[in-house]
Amino acid sequence: MESEPGKRIIVGITGASGAIYALHTVKALLRHAVEVHLIISDYGAYVLESEADFSLKGGALLESFKTRFKDADLTGEIVRYSNKDLAASVSSGSFRTEGMVVVPCSMKTLAGIAQGITGNLIERAADVTLKEGRKLVLVPRETPLNKIHLKNMLAAADAGAHILPAMPAFYQKPGTIADLADFVAGRILALFDIDAKLFKPWQK
Ligand SMILES: Cc1cc2nc3c(=O)[nH]c(=O)nc-3n(C[C@H](O)[C@H](O)[C@H](O)COP(=O)(O)O)c2cc1C
Repeated sequence: MESEPGKRIIVGITGASGAIYALHTVKALLRHAVEVHLIISDYGAYVLESEADFSLKGGALLESFKTRFKDADLTGEIVRYSNKDLAASVSSGSFRTEGMVVVPCSMKTLAGIAQGITGNLIERAADVTLKEGRKLVLVPRETPLNKIHLKNMLAAADAGAHILPAMPAFYQKPGTIADLADFVAGRILALFDIDAKLFKPWQK
């Protein structure tokens, strides 16, 4: 009998503010030995570098995460794809995954997913995730929101996506920016049934 592969989750990083949410999400997935299939848009890379001082140059991404989080025990794997590569494995439903998260999700990518454009690999992989009935989590980030943004969120939710806005809670009494990012990362992982223990459940 063939053994089941470990969890595979596709992560799309786009050019919205909040690159730190992406870093903490990938770190948490790696800590849970998830195989992370990573697609970063051009502006996703730009914001990672400008906002979070995270450079994608050099190639050894797993090492960069270990260094960033001072954690040598990140046991997962990262497989990275070009956002232009529409022939990548994650472009096909025959490549089995637990699902996909787009974090942070720009209004442009939200629109592309909501309208089924599939013009780049992030949009295509999200489209495939929905058509296969797998979990798609979108972490939109913009403020204020116009009616187009709201309609696109509703369209994506109607198609089966989970909308998990980058809105950390404050009842946790976060002490650092990392706590805020961990809260959002923890809520994302919870949707994939991973208890990352990144936030304490509310208790009166
Ligand atoms: C520093 C910076 C911050 C940005 N923040 C946001 C944001 O919070 N939300 C958003 O929808 N777009 C934001 N944008 C604009 C997107 O990057 C832009 O719409 C881009 O086309 C998104 O493309 P992508 O979804 O393929 O990454 C930002 C751009 C820059 C340069």
